[in-house]
Amino acid sequence: MPITRGGIAAISLACLAAWGTVLAQGKPDDGLAIGRQMLAEDNPGDLWIDRGKNLFYEKRGPKNASLESCEFGLGPGKLEGATAQLPRYFPDTDRVQDLESRLLTCMVELQGFKREDIVKRAISPAGSTGSDVETLAIYISSRSNGMKMNLRLAHPKEREMYKAGEYLFFRRSGQTDFACVQCHGEPDKRIRLQDLVHMTDKKQIQEVVATWPAYRGAHFTVRTMQWRLYDCFWQMRLPELKYTSDVSIALTTYLHYQGNGAVIKVPGFKR
Ligand code: HEC
Repeated sequence: MPITRGGIAAISLACLAAWGTVLAQGKPDDGLAIGRQMLAEDNPGDLWIDRGKNLFYEKRGPKNASLESCEFGLGPGKLEGATAQLPRYFPDTDRVQDLESRLLTCMVELQGFKREDIVKRAISPAGSTGSDVETLAIYISSRSNGMKMNLRLAHPKEREMYKAGEYLFFRRSGQTDFACVQCHGEPDKRIRLQDLVHMTDKKQIQEVVATWPAYRGAHFTVRTMQWRLYDCFWQMRLPELKYTSDVSIALTTYLHYQGNGAVIKVPGFKR
């Protein structure tokens, strides 16, 4: 991914410059926080909300249908508050699904798209206008803005997913013997200039779950939680994380439940 890595290098340089100034002030974390705040106030990700809305209501696919009757857990087409409770169990598929796997179900069942085709394009190239799924994910999540993350784990399969996610979060695996918790289980850790979010801290995990999907500066486009997990798997040199696999949904269930109570505010802005 030459563009992506190049983009990261460019942003790292920019951060380095900013950090230099901040170091002079003796408070590096404050400086980075101020930078992030400034970026978030002018978030290009907002542009995807309207695009996603148009896509949602447009009649598309072999069945020439919109997504208006797609059910995200609160009734057909009811989007307000829906992502605050995802992942959740859906009786029609008999699975626990996150936003993106549910979108796949609807795009296949209602609109007649081929699953493989959507999956192939789900994570868009850096610098692009974003895939349909990414764009729709931004719009649908934005309908829960201001609401609190509230996973209930009422169904036994939701509890199983949570347990699996917790296990995976703490389990060391692969050639580097990394677990998520090694990078995300302590305060004030960094890789190069990137802060590593401390996800066993309630406040920090809430900040995470409140802000995905997000605009990713280094990629000049929007990204979802599926992408984020895919990228951390890559960093851990684990086998490629399959899009909307149970492993990804287990981890998302674990993270979202840990972040319960977070006030949703998407799209987030990530460096
Ligand atoms: C080798 C260290 C490393 C490991 C292990 C790792 N991550 Fe990450 N993770 C990162 C880095 C670096 C970032 C953020 C980089 C950035 O600033 O763009 C990140 C970011 C994230 C984020 C987004 C945080 C935010 O800003 O909102 C999530 C969610 C996440 N990781 C989940 C996981 C999960 C789940 C695992 C285990 C499957 C995992 N990570 C394992 C390094 C790691």
